[in-house]
This record gives sequence, structure tokens and C-alpha cells, in this order.
Amino acid sequence: MSGYLVEDTRKVTTSRLKEMKAEGKKIAMLTSYDYTTAKIVDEAGVDVILIGDSASNVMAGNLTTLPITLDQMIYHAQSVSLAAKRAFVVCDMPFGSYQVDEKEAVRNAIRIMKETRCDAVKIEGGIEIIDAVKRIIDAGIPVCGHLGLTPQSINKFGTYAVRAKEEAEAQKLLSDVKVLAEAGCCAIVVEKIPAALTKQAVESVDIPIIGIGGGQADGQVLVIDDMLGKNKGFAPKFLRRYADLHTIMTDAIGAYVSDVKSGDFPNEKECY
Ligand code: KIV
Repeated sequence: MSGYLVEDTRKVTTSRLKEMKAEGKKIAMLTSYDYTTAKIVDEAGVDVILIGDSASNVMAGNLTTLPITLDQMIYHAQSVSLAAKRAFVVCDMPFGSYQVDEKEAVRNAIRIMKETRCDAVKIEGGIEIIDAVKRIIDAGIPVCGHLGLTPQSINKFGTYAVRAKEEAEAQKLLSDVKVLAEAGCCAIVVEKIPAALTKQAVESVDIPIIGIGGGQADGQVLVIDDMLGKNKGFAPKFLRRYADLHTIMTDAIGAYVSDVKSGDFPNEKECY
């Protein structure tokens, strides 16, 4: 495949992810929600593309991830899947699509796989949703877990503060990591937990643990709009900004507005 920034352009699969952990090769995961961005992300060498339900915040402007629907997630995932040739593509199951019962969960996961051609689904929670996880995996669908700060439960937590600082919650998280791995999950995202706890999680299972605000892990994930600096107001400690797209885009759009207003755009070369 041409245009790729990485030498190994083989399609990333569940077995490759496990191999990467065994070989000590870090996994780079990033969100995407549209075709053009996903194509850049794929060609830049990101191993796993997540169609996160963070689309609810960054695409739709909602305060939480709760309002996004299954149909809206499928729309975003269809565009991303078309673009991603190398990356393993994971689609978040949105709030309400897997909590009611296992049958509904597996039906919705099948819809995602059929209609989007994604490689896996991601579900928030541990032992509470393990029956749904097992049914989905039994249907042949890879599942990525998500523990620690699980944004779909924000109304229960009441805060986006670091999770699992207390011993009881830390022990529950480690037990959930084992339960999800034993059920056959292909990876687990751990969000906003102490780095020492992430290390214990990494050492306790042979599937990749992907961190966001969790310190060193088998891999890392970030929300693309945040790491590209599109969103000026969001600056948690864990976020590294790799660009200042807010300034770049504002300057470019400002220049366009001024060229249109002055009559400078279009010039003779830009006309038919
Ligand atoms: O929805 C999302 O983008 C996520 C990541 C923050 C892991 O779940």
C-alpha cells in the first residue's frame, strides 16, 4: 500500500494485537469519526481506530456521550471503515444499546458489524455487563472492554475525576480486567486511573491494555480533536497536544473571509 508512514502495512487483526503485546510493541490508537480524517489517521500508521461515542461531544456538541444513538454511531463508523485499510477498526456501542439485556446487546453488535464493516465493538463496564460481552463474543464479534472512568456512567459518578484511587475500586477494576480477558475480549481501554494500577492490569493479562490518562500501558488512545488542539477549552493533565489546529484553522478561515470580502479571491488563475 502506498502513502503509508509505516513499513508494516499488513491489516491489524485481533491476533496481531495480542502478538504486539507479547513482542512488547506499543499500540497506537486514536479516534476518528469521518472518512477524510480516518484516511489520514490510517496512513499515518495508527494501529487501532476507534469510532468513539465521544462523537457525541466533539461532532454533535453534546455535554456527555449519552445522547448519541446507534444509528448515528453507525453513520460515523461506515465512513471510517471505508477509509481504514490497515488499522483495526473499533466502534463504540452507545449508551442504551447493550445494557437492557444480552439479546438486545448481541442484536445491536451484529447491526454494527453488518452495516459498518468494523472489526470490533467496544463496551463500557466489567462484571455488570459480562453476559452481554460473552454473547457478543460467542456471535463471533471481537469486543474491546472499557474500565476506569466510563463516561456513559457520568451521571452515576457525578464527576470526571480520576477513578480507582481507593483500594476497593482498584481491586474491582483488576478483577474486571481478568473477567473481561477470560471472556475473550481482544483488548481493554482503561481511562483515568492511577499509573501504578494500570501497570498491575498490564501484568495480569495477555491481552493489550490501552490507556487514556492511565500512564504507561500496552498502548495509548486519545480523542483526535483533543490531541490536534481543535478544542481549546479541554486541557486535562493527561492530554498531549500535537498541533494547534484551533489557531491554524482560525487563521486560515480568517484569511479566506478577508480575501472574499476584498475581492482578492478568486483571482484570474482560479477562474474557468
Ligand atoms: O469515546 C471515546 O472516544 C473513548 C475513548 C476516550 C477511549 O471511549
